[in-house]
Amino acid sequence: MLNTPQTVAIIMDGNGRWAKKQNLPRTAGHKKGADRVRDIALEAKRLGIQKLILYAFSTENWKRPEDEVSYLCKLPGLFFNKFIQELMDNNIRVTFAGELEKFPENTKAVIRKAVNQTAVNTGMELCLAINYGSQRELVLAMQNYANQVASGQRENDIQEQEVNELLFVQENVDLMIRTSGECRISNFLLWQIAYAELIFTPTPWPDFDEQALQQCIAEYQNRDRRFGGLSNED
Ligand code: IPE
Ligand code: IPE
Ligand code: MG
Repeated sequence: MLNTPQTVAIIMDGNGRWAKKQNLPRTAGHKKGADRVRDIALEAKRLGIQKLILYAFSTENWKRPEDEVSYLCKLPGLFFNKFIQELMDNNIRVTFAGELEKFPENTKAVIRKAVNQTAVNTGMELCLAINYGSQRELVLAMQNYANQVASGQRENDIQEQEVNELLFVQENVDLMIRTSGECRISNFLLWQIAYAELIFTPTPWPDFDEQALQQCIAEYQNRDRRFGGLSNED
């Protein structure tokens, strides 16, 4: 059987451009994008992916106009109200990566509630990267490590494994997808994508459907992952 990537990360980009093309406000793109999160999460689960990490809000996205940021803060509430039951029915566990503190109280509350409610589920992990930035994640890890060494709680013996343990996301990403044509990583999972296969698709996130995900998985399965070694045929 062809191998399915265990950990898939998606930079869900292009909501604003999708909306603009249809003369809709940018928020309409975000709303449609949230419905896609549901579709893609269920499809990822069906395909046997173990962890799906979705970039929903970056540490840089606070720079956007206040009304857009405020709408994005409301989205988790709208999303979980609508879809939490389906996530439960599909045995999907919700987690998050990033610093929640900066969000308004109600945003924090709905996210924590979804995490708690789905904690019993044993199927796919759906990890929402919110107020997430990879550089910030690494800075926090370094501060944490340095403090533990300084206070004598641990040896100064850091290796790759110890770095992993200090990060929000501890898995190596197998496949990273970015929608909407931009070919950059935008501060997402820099450590974890060390050997990820990368796919950049022109499709904007609100149009990225189940079939689009299947195509990305098929492309992944055709890649020859050598990890610095030689191909099986060599
Ligand atoms: C992605 O879509 C959603 C977030 C970054 C929150 P964008 O809002 O970046 O859409 P474009 O890139 O402007 O089209
Ligand atoms: C990356 O998209 C962040 C998310 C998808 C949440 P952006 O639209 O913010 O990235 P840039 O600004 O084009 O790099
Ligand atoms: Mg964008």
